[in-house]
Amino acid sequence: MSNVLVMGSGGREHAVCYALKKSKRVDKLFCVPGNAGIAEIATCKGISVFDFEGIYEFAKENDVDLIFVTPDDPLAKGAVDFFNARGMRAFGPTAAAAKLESSKAFSKDFMVRHGIPTAKSMIFDSAATALEFLSKTNYPVVIKADGLALGKGVLICADEGEAKKAIDELMIDKAFGEAGSRVLIEEFLSGREVTVMAFIDGKSISLMPSSQDHKRAYDGDKGLNTGGMGAFAPSPYFTDEKKSEFMQKIALPTVRGLIEDGIEYKGVIYFGLMMTKDGIKVIEYNSRLGDPETEAVLPLLNSDIMVIIDACIDGTLDKTDVKWSDKTGFTVVVASGGYPSNVIKGFEIKIGKLNDVILFHAGTAIKDGVLVTSGGRVFELSGVADSLEDARKLVYGQIDKISFKDSRYRTDIGRV
Ligand code: AMP
Ligand code: GLY
Repeated sequence: MSNVLVMGSGGREHAVCYALKKSKRVDKLFCVPGNAGIAEIATCKGISVFDFEGIYEFAKENDVDLIFVTPDDPLAKGAVDFFNARGMRAFGPTAAAAKLESSKAFSKDFMVRHGIPTAKSMIFDSAATALEFLSKTNYPVVIKADGLALGKGVLICADEGEAKKAIDELMIDKAFGEAGSRVLIEEFLSGREVTVMAFIDGKSISLMPSSQDHKRAYDGDKGLNTGGMGAFAPSPYFTDEKKSEFMQKIALPTVRGLIEDGIEYKGVIYFGLMMTKDGIKVIEYNSRLGDPETEAVLPLLNSDIMVIIDACIDGTLDKTDVKWSDKTGFTVVVASGGYPSNVIKGFEIKIGKLNDVILFHAGTAIKDGVLVTSGGRVFELSGVADSLEDARKLVYGQIDKISFKDSRYRTDIGRV
């Protein structure tokens, strides 16, 4: 039996805790800092995910055997390296492996060197050369900040005017700080997007069901990009034929490439894919579980998650049976009114009786004994059913039982 500590505070972390709570190998469950929903199933402690020393001390005091490092920033800053150096088991890639997400220039170079299909791209370290290139190229183009920018450092530009504005914002005004001191200018890909997440143990990979998230704030894919407004799994567009193309051309070459480069990658790897008319291409790697994809995918897991985590760390994933339900998982984000640009927090939340759904908390807190909103994404309401349509009905049939001032959600998850 293990005592496990999960780092993070969103709906994804709640879904991870929910899966760990079901494990026969897990004794005590902790989460830092957690949220009001996670606190119902784990002991939460208000320590920042960047305070590695504080987390380590808390873990030691509580006989924690394993730390699950969930969010991208602590992974990029070397949380797993930090804990491992102190003899603590940790689940997630090291900083060197997490660079596949934390530097888009690094991951682009990795893909090109290992022949993994991706958008053509050029790297620029100076605004002047980027602008010169933009005066000669074809449109649309995609401009990306090299570093982590909360999913907001990607700008799709229809013409030179928009592209110049994007360079101003990223490289001159430094809207995302140092993340934008280097940019990639990339060929625009069109097609259907699909997410494939996988467990990886350094040598082999085990795919989770495919999924699709909806990044724009409003129905019909309108409004600003967000962290994600809802998701479903599996994606009906990711057929067996696509899956085998993905395995042969992308997943296996990625694992081989990591081994060739001497990077030992253990944890979860996320492939953001575009199914173009010229085949599947990688838009991005993430070094962690996606949010909200996880809230749709993990409820489909029929195996003990802790067995899989142990297998990833111990390098025995190829000998581990990972079972998934063939049903559909579905999740809708209930967000604060102004999300993603102007979030007002602290509204009281009322929740009616929910049946056969799972309510994952994202931005919630308890204030003076009352459940209140404390973030942009407040809940993810998830359900599992035999078909996408049934799962939609199950979740949307109950979502109005959650209420707080100015709450909103997209009504077309799974429809676009
Ligand atoms: P990323 O942070 O790289 O995943 O990009 C965020 C979103 O921007 C993706 O989910 C896509 O919708 C879009 N995107 C990124 N790169 C491209 C591209 N080369 N062509 C078209 N859309 C893209
Ligand atoms: N939902 C996209 C992500 O987690 O990056």
